Parts: sequence; structure tokens; C-alpha cells
Amino acid sequence: MFEIKSGIYSVGVQNPDLEVFDIIMKTPRGTSYNAYLIRGSERTALVETAKEGFLEEYLANIGQIIPFEQVDYLIINHTEPDHAGIIPELLSRNGRLQLIGTHSAITFIGQIINRPFNSRAVKAGDTLSLGDRTLRFYPMPNLHWPDTMFTHDSLSNGLFTCDFLGAHYSFAPLLMSKVRDIPDYMAGVEKYYQDIMSPFSRPFVVNGIKAVRDIGPDLVLPGHGAVLDSHLEQMLEMYERLSAAPEKSGKSVAMIYVSAYGYTRALARAIGQELEENGIAVRQIELDEHNKTQALEAVALADGVLFGSPTFLGDALQPIGELLAALHPYNVKGKLCAAFGSYGWSGEAVANITGRLEQLRARTMPGVRARLRPGAEELAEARAFAERFAKELS
Ligand code: FEO
Repeated sequence: MFEIKSGIYSVGVQNPDLEVFDIIMKTPRGTSYNAYLIRGSERTALVETAKEGFLEEYLANIGQIIPFEQVDYLIINHTEPDHAGIIPELLSRNGRLQLIGTHSAITFIGQIINRPFNSRAVKAGDTLSLGDRTLRFYPMPNLHWPDTMFTHDSLSNGLFTCDFLGAHYSFAPLLMSKVRDIPDYMAGVEKYYQDIMSPFSRPFVVNGIKAVRDIGPDLVLPGHGAVLDSHLEQMLEMYERLSAAPEKSGKSVAMIYVSAYGYTRALARAIGQELEENGIAVRQIELDEHNKTQALEAVALADGVLFGSPTFLGDALQPIGELLAALHPYNVKGKLCAAFGSYGWSGEAVANITGRLEQLRARTMPGVRARLRPGAEELAEARAFAERFAKELS
């Protein structure tokens, strides 16, 4: 626990041992579940809670400032369980605590705790007086989750943004001005953006950046990583760069594939060449353990995507399977996608990839296969497939 600015205390917890967040995101520097206590002259509010398992440490931090039973409000900017996991226990210990969040947030919390609770759903511009300071709420729907909002404190000019502008870092005290290795931290911010923000639509991020700029806070207090008492402009510029729409003059296709013996690679080359001859910009990535992030970025930026894999033991090879598993409908919904690959016996990879793409609600078309090393006829088929794909994309 420490006082960040007059009347604003850090009461969150550190989790330096966390190696993987949300099952799939590696967190080599752990993470923090940031939470804040805001003390007004008449009322006290908490912003965010912590993940299940960190209740006692969270309460102990609050107890250094005020008995938990005397806290009036709990502001929920986002209900994902790393921020809201201990709410049921908190309500058991303080029945008068009023939960404040967007309509979605209150609905989600109701579905988590399954019993009545004291709540207030807020809309854009709604305020809450704590006496000498006023909180104002800024719903940011779909900036990560539908429930998301920012909360602004008038006295400190501090803006609480939950996941937005955060990073998976565990260290204390949580102040950006105290971070020693800024390039390392900023690399962590970029990774966090790619993992947490980029799967969601670019306009929501742009909206979030605009809101922060319009509010003009002196202090940004996110739900993970450092409190931004410095480097906010640098952070916003990074978000602007990462969320910028690519300059484009025509259609583009990302081709992501693996090849065991070069046969699927030969198909990829024929398809890529034909696409380019049809005026399509092609980005080919032969997937390995180092370029998964680039592959995800290429999928996000392209107008159409082709996934290639040979068939091995009746399925696509693992790197392509893992990449497809990492994609969400947000990434490819409505996007033209198809599969290609060589095979020896039964050749299920193309159909299996196509099936996964349909699960992801991509717009699919039948793929193309070649038996072992593609001969002249199969390469011609691959080119004909590419021509159909290019026409469908136009
Ligand atoms: Fe940090 Fe979306 O939870």
C-alpha cells in the first residue's frame, strides 16, 4: 500500500510468480492486479479488486487506511475475474458496499455472484460525489470487453483505465517515474497491447486514445503495471502507432503456412505468384516458433488469408493448429479465407483448417490440395485456385 497522490492509495496486489495469464499469454515479469482507494471528505471508493486468492492481501492493504466495512463504493471499470474475482467475498464482509459500473458490468457481476447486491449502473457523464472530489464515468464499450469504462477523479485529475494502457509487470512501487528500464517496460506495453487490445476492433482503441486525450489527465491509473505519472504521451503515441490503419492501395493476402518437405511451400509459391499477377499484395510467412506474432499481425491486416499445411496423422501440423486455436472470430469474421496443403494418403488438413475457419465465422471457399510433391497439373490447379481467390476478393 502507498499513497500515490493526495487521497489516492494503491491497494492492489502483486503476482510476480505468474507465468501465464488467461491460460495463453506468457508473463515473464508476472503481473499486478492494481486497485485503488479514493478518499473523499465524505465518502470513500475503491476502484477494482483483485484475482481470487488475493483477498487477504487486498483487505490488509485497505485496512492500513480505513476499515473495509467503512468503504462506501466499489467502482468496477471491467469485470474480468483478474479485477473482479474477489467481489463475492467483499460483499459478504461489507453488505452496504455499492457496486458501480456500466449496465453490462453490473449484469456480468450479477451472473458471477448469483444473488442480489447493492448496485448502480452508470452512463456516460454520470458522476459520483465523494465530498471534496467527484468521480465521472466514461463508458468505453468493447474497448476490450463490452463492460469497460474509464473513471475520472476531479481532485487529482487521475484517470482509471483498467486494462487500457496497462502492462503485465510486477514490481513496487508501481510508478512509471520509478521504472529503471524504460525500453524494457515499453516492450512489455507493446506485448500487452498485442495480446489484450489488438484482438479487438481498431476503432474501439482509437476511441479510447481520443477519450484520454480529451480528458487530459495528469495521472493514468491502469489495472496492471505502472501508474503513469510520467511517459503518458509516449504511451499514447505507441497505442496510436499500433492501432493505425495501414496505408493501402489495393487488396492484400496473408499466406501463413508450414511445410515439412517443401511440397506445401511449392504450392504456396505458385499460389502467391498467381495472386500477385492478379494485382494482390501478398505477404508469405512460413510459420516457426519465432514469428507467431508477425503471423497474427499479418492475419489482422490482410483482406484475405490462406493457411497452408501438409497432412500429418490425419490433421494439420501443430504450428498451424496452434495459430488457428489462438485466433478469435474478432480476427477473421467475414474475412475471405481458405486452406492449401500437400498430403500423402488421406489429406484431412485442408478440410480441418477450413472447418476451424468456419467456426471462426470467416468467409471460406474450398481449398486446394496436392498429393506429395505437386506436379505441373497440380501447380496449375493451385494457380487456378489463386485466381478464383483473387476474383472473390475483388
Ligand atoms: Fe485485466 Fe481484461 O482483464
